[in-house]
Amino acid sequence: MNAMGAAPFVADLVISGGTVVSGEASIAADVAIAGEHIVAVGRPEAMPPARERLEARGLLVLPGAIDVHVHFREPGYTHKEDWATGSAAAAMGGVTTVFEMPNTNPPTRSAAELAEKRALAAKSSVDFGLYGLLAEDNLDELEGLIAAGANAFKCFMGNTFGDLPAPSTGAMLEGFEIIARTGLRISLHAEEATIMARRQARLAAAGRNDPLDHLLARPAVVAVEAVGRAATLAEWTGARIHILHISSAAELRPLAEAKARGVDVTGETCPCYLLLSREDYGRLGPLIRVNPPVREAYDRDALWHALRSGVIDMIATDHAPHTPEEKARLPIWRADCGFPGVETQMPLMLTEVARGRLTIEQYVRLAAEAPAKAFGLWPTKGRIAPGAHADIAIVDPKRTETIRAADLHSRAKVTPFDGVTVTGVPVHTLVRGRLVQRDRRFVSDSSGWGRPVTEIQRMPTPVLRNADLAIDRLAPRLPLARSAA
Ligand code: DOR
Ligand code: ZN
Repeated sequence: MNAMGAAPFVADLVISGGTVVSGEASIAADVAIAGEHIVAVGRPEAMPPARERLEARGLLVLPGAIDVHVHFREPGYTHKEDWATGSAAAAMGGVTTVFEMPNTNPPTRSAAELAEKRALAAKSSVDFGLYGLLAEDNLDELEGLIAAGANAFKCFMGNTFGDLPAPSTGAMLEGFEIIARTGLRISLHAEEATIMARRQARLAAAGRNDPLDHLLARPAVVAVEAVGRAATLAEWTGARIHILHISSAAELRPLAEAKARGVDVTGETCPCYLLLSREDYGRLGPLIRVNPPVREAYDRDALWHALRSGVIDMIATDHAPHTPEEKARLPIWRADCGFPGVETQMPLMLTEVARGRLTIEQYVRLAAEAPAKAFGLWPTKGRIAPGAHADIAIVDPKRTETIRAADLHSRAKVTPFDGVTVTGVPVHTLVRGRLVQRDRRFVSDSSGWGRPVTEIQRMPTPVLRNADLAIDRLAPRLPLARSAA
């Protein structure tokens, strides 16, 4: 009891002696946590007493990474991944929030399917958002998905794992009209489907079956076309959009132009496009197959430039687990596309920070601040400040480790970065004040600690355009036809 008769405030945890990093600056500061929130950041003598202390001398205290592009495969493909293994990989990788994609089986295309996925995600160790699908045949479901708490939408403009057909431009516009009203962001797999289908069929028929032929089937024009078209629909409706896995120099032009026109568009790239190029196809074989493909060295270099200049807003992973057997198939058209990434993103990017290719502040902006802002989680997530969730990656910037596929926490023990030595590793991860990784070990009883971001997500009020021309304002949709039973 103090003089006023109230019990003195005692924090749960103080992270002491570390360097706190934001998008603007790195400062020596302690961080006090009570319950799920940060309550103080500052000089050691300004910290409240705490039940526990975490020594962080020589370490960096980063807002946990927010990865808006993961595939955790449940329901339907749990031999590749599930919410427990995928979120353990995230925890080990310093990733405290994920947004999970709808190409599961069944796909997340209705309110009931979203509710089913949310129940499965209850075993997650990290916080999560769920994508609803925007497809040709589920426009009648979009309002239900919104009401059920979808945190963003995903539209596959080109084919990839799951073989969800690309919607027509007409269906996309109608979907954009509906979703625009909520302010929720629509993430695009921006590769034009028909160009790829024709080229892949011609190449395969001609016996072109090598890993590099995958790159030839998906030239960058597929992305240029799709980014431009998505931006046109976003500009017309006022919908917010996000361009997933930017892989080429060429698509940066329509992206930058859309931004200049005032379209609310963000873009991400992934470590594989920043660190691999055509030269790696021979060495990696079918393992390198990913959609969009890893491209030329000049594409890779342009992506680095765009990261630094702000044309690309954020880093995500497209964490796409498949078994080693599914990744090794030849001819190339039979290899599943993508590979795990949520556990290796932070060490790989910190290694580039150590090499001087990015500053640590730029990295925090790309991995935490920008995704938090674009997807409505700011100011609760994405920063180390009083009032924010205590979502924290404590990083040893000097620690070296060699990435080993067999050591991944993902169920899919495969990575194109097997054998790569990294400098800079998250050594502890906290999600809302709770350690989910400690000293490079997953805290297994954290399974189930993850929560949906729906309760904290706030998208700013959208600026609608041409709303009076939205087709459902002109001509109401008829109720779904019922089969005569
Ligand atoms: O290579 C990919 N794999 N790209 C995607 O867009 C989807 C992903 C998957 O789900 O396997
Ligand atoms: Zn993806």
